[in-house]
Amino acid sequence: MWTTWRLKFQWETLCPVIYADRFGLVVIMRRAEQPVSQAVVDDLPCYYPDITAETKHADFGALDGRVVALDYGLPLAQAVTDKRRYYAGFANMPAQQFPRSPRSDAWPDTDSPD
Ligand SMILES: Nc1ncnc2c1ncn2[C@@H]1O[C@H](COP(=O)(O)OP(=O)(O)OP(=O)(O)O)[C@@H](O)[C@H]1O
Ligand SMILES: [Mg+2]
Repeated sequence: MWTTWRLKFQWETLCPVIYADRFGLVVIMRRAEQPVSQAVVDDLPCYYPDITAETKHADFGALDGRVVALDYGLPLAQAVTDKRRYYAGFANMPAQQFPRSPRSDAWPDTDSPD
């Protein structure tokens, strides 16, 4: 996810990996500052296609002025195969960004009589 798909999609919410063996058994990352709140995590942009990561705030941290995911990756052999195929199906261009939790004032008020 760090070496291949991040470059393809230009995701900016992954904690940098400094070293990983080719099987991902040993992974060394930069240390992020914790905690960050769930509200901050919920305000992060989500991407299409999105990173594959845990979503709880305990698995995010602050680094160089940004909030980054710490616990990300492709688990289990079948998930790796499926997700690689999914990511490979996208064109070589940056992922699109969307608000993760749309604010109510960002949407038309459909209940309003006028
Ligand atoms: N790069 C990092 N910087 C700071 N803290 C980190 C970093 N990576 C992991 N941690 C801390 O260690 C915790 C566990 O890491 P992680 O979730 O990646 O491991 P895990 O094997 O999935 O463990 P668990 O089963 O507890 O989720 C994270 O929730 C976070 O608090
Ligand atoms: Mg974890």
